[in-house]
Formats: sequence, C-alpha cells, structure tokens
Amino acid sequence: MRPTDLKTRIFLDGGDPDETKEALKLIGFVDGQTTNPSLIAKNPVARRRMERGEKFTRSEILSFYRDVVGELTSLIPEGSISVEVYADSKTAADEMIKQAEEMFSWIPNAHIKLPTTHEGLKAAEQAIKSGIRVNMTLCFTQEQAAAVYIATKGARKGDVYVSPFIGRLDDRGENGMDLISNIIEMYKKGDGHVELLTASVRNLDHHLYALKLGSDIVTSPFKIIREWFEKGNFVPGNDYIYDKKNLKPIAFKDLDMTRSWQDFDISHELTDKGLAKFASDWNSLIKE
Ligand code: E4P
Repeated sequence: MRPTDLKTRIFLDGGDPDETKEALKLIGFVDGQTTNPSLIAKNPVARRRMERGEKFTRSEILSFYRDVVGELTSLIPEGSISVEVYADSKTAADEMIKQAEEMFSWIPNAHIKLPTTHEGLKAAEQAIKSGIRVNMTLCFTQEQAAAVYIATKGARKGDVYVSPFIGRLDDRGENGMDLISNIIEMYKKGDGHVELLTASVRNLDHHLYALKLGSDIVTSPFKIIREWFEKGNFVPGNDYIYDKKNLKPIAFKDLDMTRSWQDFDISHELTDKGLAKFASDWNSLIKE
C-alpha cells in the first residue's frame, strides 16, 4: 500500500500491461505510466510478432499502441499515461501536433510526450493552448527545463511534465541526480505549473533519491518497483545519503525564467541521440 509519508507519485516505466498488473499486485497502487517507442517495441506481443517476421503496417502499429495504452488506462484509470509522438530530426511542430491530437483522443488520461527540442517546444506551446497535456521528454539540461517552463506558461498545474533522463547522464559519467535537484531549485522561483518527472531510472538509489529530493513524479521500470517493494517500499529519511560514486557534478545555473524560451541554448547531444534511437526502434517495427 501507499506509504503515508510518500509525496512523490510513482509511475511505471514500460510498455507491457502485464507488468502494470504485477506492480499493482505488489505495491497496491501505480500513479501512472510512461511509454516510449523503444518500450512499445519491447512489448512481448510486439516482440513475438516480430520474431515471426511479421512487421506492422503504419496503421497497424498505431492501432497496437492505441490498444496498449487503452489497456493501461483500464488498469490505472485515475493515473496519467504518457504516449509519445513519432519524431525524428526532421519532424516539424505541426506534424507533432497532428499526432498529439490523435493520440490525446485515444484515452481520457493521456499526457503526450514531445521532445525537448525547438520543434517540440513550439508544438508544446500550441498543444497547451488546445488543452492537450504534455510530457516534455529527452531533457538533459537546466536550460531545457527552463525553456519548458516558459513555453508552457499559463498551463494548469498537472498539465505539463518535464522528464529529465538521469540514467543516460550517469551512463556518460555525469551525476544525473544533480540535474533533478537543480531543476527543483530553479522551479522554486516559478508558479509551479510544471511537474518534474524523474525518468531514465536505472537503480533503486535513483528511485529513492528522487523521493528524498521531492520530485513530483518518478517513473521506474518494473524491476526497480519490485526491488523497492522487496525492501519494504519505504520513503528515505534524513539519514539517507545518495552515493554519487565518482560521477561528475552538474553545477546549478541561475537562469532567468522571465526571458523568452528561444533565448536559451536547448541543444544537447543526448537529446539528438535519443530522438534518433526512438525513431529507429519505431521504424524497425514497420514494413517498408
Ligand atoms: C520515460 O519517460 C523515459 O522514456 C524512460 O525512462 C527512458 O529510460 P531509458 O533511458 O532507460 O531508456
């Protein structure tokens, strides 16, 4: 059951509804779920089909994705389900918006994942005006988080998430959890309309430290939810010290969130790489 001192919402990161059922059985609650093209490609039904050599047509894969998120919604109707648009380096904001409108109509509790790129932010500005909830993904810097805040100003709290990918920063020797504490610090000056969703969680310590720091949401893969459950799904207290190992610190920057978002350099190598990988995982499912 939900620990009484738990403030952070716990999302499951995955594309397999069977894991959602398992997580619900284990901890008794799941506050939402995040999916992405790579996670949908790992869905067991999709994998079995690919192993039989039966790729999807474009419309089949969309209807498969729709069915998966439909099932997730029936399992966690009160939660939020993140559904990601297809985007590569050439996808324009208008094309993202078309997909966002379609995906947002699939289920009543969707947040649409848009990349934290120039086109993704343009799409987010427009999406928010049309009442589409967004989850800005592939965020690796404080500048990107500031740009998300500014581009979505005026949105209701709960309608905008920003997803910093901490594990991928750790993978290249930087302390991803520093980015979480830096964004929390920066957002203290704001109006609270953007919720921070700690993503790309690789181990139980990431999960626990996100709770300790007070991230609004953490999305963790099933195996980490299970590990958390096995350790008594506790919220770490003041005695908890995050072991940052020999990861390089990421310094806090005093950014001015009253500027226009276009003033910030929002480019990041990992955003570009991540976009390309999501696109190629998605395309690998589709018949030529
Ligand atoms: C969730 O929203 C993200 O897409 C996911 O956490 C990315 O995780 P990864 O870096 O392990 O692929």
